[in-house]
Amino acid sequence: MAGLSFCNAIGVVLLAVLAFPLCYTFIPPQVHEVKGKCAVVTGASTGIGVQIAHVLASEGISKLVITARSKEKLDAVAANITKHYPKTQVFAEKSDVSKPEDRTALAETVAKTFGSCPTTLVNNAGVESFLHMELQSAKPKIDQMIDINIRGLIHLTNDFLPMLIKSGGHIVNIASLAGKMPGIGVNVYSATKFAVIGFSLNLRADMRHRKLDVSVHCVMPGIVKEAGMADDMGKQIGLPLESITDLAGFSRPIDTANAVVEAIKYDHPELIVNSLPVWPLIAIHSIFPRWFDFTFELPLPSVERLNAWFDKVTDYQSQK
Ligand SMILES: NC(=O)c1ccc[n+]([C@@H]2O[C@H](COP(=O)([O-])OP(=O)(O)OC[C@H]3O[C@@H](n4cnc5c(N)ncnc54)[C@H](OP(=O)(O)O)[C@@H]3O)[C@@H](O)[C@H]2O)c1
Repeated sequence: MAGLSFCNAIGVVLLAVLAFPLCYTFIPPQVHEVKGKCAVVTGASTGIGVQIAHVLASEGISKLVITARSKEKLDAVAANITKHYPKTQVFAEKSDVSKPEDRTALAETVAKTFGSCPTTLVNNAGVESFLHMELQSAKPKIDQMIDINIRGLIHLTNDFLPMLIKSGGHIVNIASLAGKMPGIGVNVYSATKFAVIGFSLNLRADMRHRKLDVSVHCVMPGIVKEAGMADDMGKQIGLPLESITDLAGFSRPIDTANAVVEAIKYDHPELIVNSLPVWPLIAIHSIFPRWFDFTFELPLPSVERLNAWFDKVTDYQSQK
C-alpha cells in the first residue's frame, strides 16, 4: 500500500513538472501581433517566398518589402499582392543576398522606408543542388549554396539587427528538414540548413539573454509540392514528387507561410512543416545515430522509389 501511494505521489509530481513545458509546446498562448507591423521577405520572386509575402499581407502587415534578384518577377508578385490586399504598401527591391553591397543597401532602404515600425525579417532566399561530392565540377555549386543559404543569411541578419533592436521585431529563418536529418545527394545543402538551425537557436538565446526585443524563429519544411525547388526538380527529371512524398510526407507553400505567421504570433523557436510527423525519427536518430544507415537500405518499394528519385536528381544535377 505504502509503495503504491509513493508511486502515485511520484506520478503526480512528474505530471505537474511536465504540465508546464507540455502546455507551452502544444497550446502556447498568443504573445505577438502581425497586424500593423512591417516585414521583409527575401527570395520572394518565386516559390515559397511568394506565399509568405501573400499571407503576411493577408494578416494586415502595413509595409512589406519583397526582395530577390529578378526584378520583373518581384514586380509581378508586388502587383498581385496590392490587387488582393490594397491596405498593404508593397515595395519590390532587387537584391542579391550573396553580395555585401546589396545587403547593406537593402538594410538602409528598409530602415528609411519603415522608420520605427516593428519589423520582421524573413530569411527565405535559398538554393539547392544535389551533388556527387567527389566531382571537382561541384565547387561552384558548393560555394553558391554556402554564399546564399548561410553566409548571405547571417550577414543580412547582421545588417538588419541594429534597426530590429531599435524597433523591436522578429527574424524568421526558413531552414529545412534537411537540417534535421540526412538525405541522399543533399550533403552541402543539408550542411547549410543545419547551420541555419544552429544560428537561429543561438541568436534567439542571445537576444533573450540580453533582454533585446527581437525574437528568432526557425521554420523547417520537408518536401514542398506545387511550387518551389523540389517541385522544379521533379519536373526537370520527369519523376513525380509522389515517389518521395509517399514515404517522407509533404507540405504546400501555404503551409510554410502559415507557419511563419504562427511562429511569430506564438513565439515558437522552431516549427517543422510536414504532413507526416517526423520528430519521432529525429529523436530516434539523436539517440541511435545508425538509424539512417538502415533506413536507406530497407528493402521496401517506397524506400527504393525514394532512393531512385534522389539518385536521378543527383546524377542529373551533377552533370549540369
Ligand atoms: N521547396 C522545398 O521543397 C523546400 C523544402 C525545405 C526548405 N526549403 C527552403 O525554402 C526556401 C525557399 O525555397 P523555394 O522552394 O521557394 O525555392 P525557389 O522556388 O527556387 O525560390 C528561391 C527564391 O530565392 C531567391 N534567390 C535565390 N538566390 C538568391 C540570391 N542570391 N539573392 C536573393 N534571392 C535569391 C529566388 O529568386 P531570384 O532567382 O529571382 O533571385 C527565389 O525567389 C529556401 O530557403 C529553401 O531552402 C524549400
